[in-house]
Amino acid sequence: MGMLALEDVNRLASQVPQLEEFFAYLRAQRYGLDGISALLKLDDAPDVLLARSAYYSFLCRDELESNASTLSVLARLFFFSIRVPVKVARAALRAAVYKIIEDAGLARPGSAELLEGAVTISEMRSTYFISDQLFTNLGNEGFIPSMADDVTMPAHASSLELFDRLEQDDHLRSFLDLGCGTGCQSILTAARYDRRKGIDLFARSPAFARVNAALAGVDCEYVNGDIFTFEDGQKYDHIAWNTPGIHGLSGPPLARLIDSRLDLLMSIEGVCQLSGIFALSSPRATVSEYFRATLAHADRWKISDRVVEGSPFGLSAENITTGKFPRLSYLITNPQEKGPLLGRLRAAKVSKVVVAVASFKRAP
Ligand SMILES: C[S@@+](CC[C@H](N)C(=O)[O-])C[C@H]1O[C@@H](n2cnc3c(N)ncnc32)[C@H](O)[C@@H]1O
Repeated sequence: MGMLALEDVNRLASQVPQLEEFFAYLRAQRYGLDGISALLKLDDAPDVLLARSAYYSFLCRDELESNASTLSVLARLFFFSIRVPVKVARAALRAAVYKIIEDAGLARPGSAELLEGAVTISEMRSTYFISDQLFTNLGNEGFIPSMADDVTMPAHASSLELFDRLEQDDHLRSFLDLGCGTGCQSILTAARYDRRKGIDLFARSPAFARVNAALAGVDCEYVNGDIFTFEDGQKYDHIAWNTPGIHGLSGPPLARLIDSRLDLLMSIEGVCQLSGIFALSSPRATVSEYFRATLAHADRWKISDRVVEGSPFGLSAENITTGKFPRLSYLITNPQEKGPLLGRLRAAKVSKVVVAVASFKRAP
């Protein structure tokens, strides 16, 4: 996969006018969750595409390749990570747009005259976000997941799960976007705050987030750093992190974050919201109880949680016991993970895996 070099991601910031023209073209072509769902006549709600881009890339490849429309070409290059013959791409895309794509390095001709996307462009709540690609679909030559540790994750189902549950209250005037990735949380909520900042462990993410913010007309500072050591002398009213736990392991590092960093980073009346995947040991246990039992000073926090029902990452007690999963489950789209994950959960006597947004305020 032709991932952009970090300096190329940084260079995108100097190409904002051209990228704006490209985004206007994407909009005109109905590039986005609704447009792509309609193109493929999907039964699932458009948002589901954010969770299942790899699955649909696999499933709809032939259909996309037999459709030479502009939207099909754009979707192949920038959403489904499917290479497109250069001739087909040149015929489908306006020449000025093709030039922007080429100049910015968003797609490059690879072997056999095939144009290969170097980035994903996802739409979330009508805003486009540029990121790395998580996979490349080479058809008969294989389906290759990205191997780099520092990829910037495309806006995704988990991004929406947090975004849709973020508190909105007029007294929250500043926002700290932990693990900012594309910057989607701080960009989509920008109008709610006077001050905002994003931080990510990997330099690629602040670099993508800066470009995405500029394209969305949002003023937000993004920095490279570790949440567990970050401090800038400021306190924030609203702190949020869509955590990277995929195997029910969000709990321990998040408890450490609350214990060691929250006092320093959060204002007196603030709220911190962490979305994650939590392995719980009894069928009736809740994520709030998990934190009350785990935090060093649980009595200092008012803890609540909102479960994301139907999340592709959740597993009921029955799923874990029987090994059978609902159609939209992450383990249906990633069957190779089923054996190792179930083995691990059963060995640790995990009763269920819950996706939730946990909220922390200072106890009165
Ligand atoms: C699931 S992604 C969320 C990205 C984005 N906020 C969203 O909602 O789409 C988690 C992000 O946390 C970042 N991250 C992981 N550990 C971190 C740490 N210790 N400090 C800062 N960022 C971290 C990852 O690099 C990744 O971008």
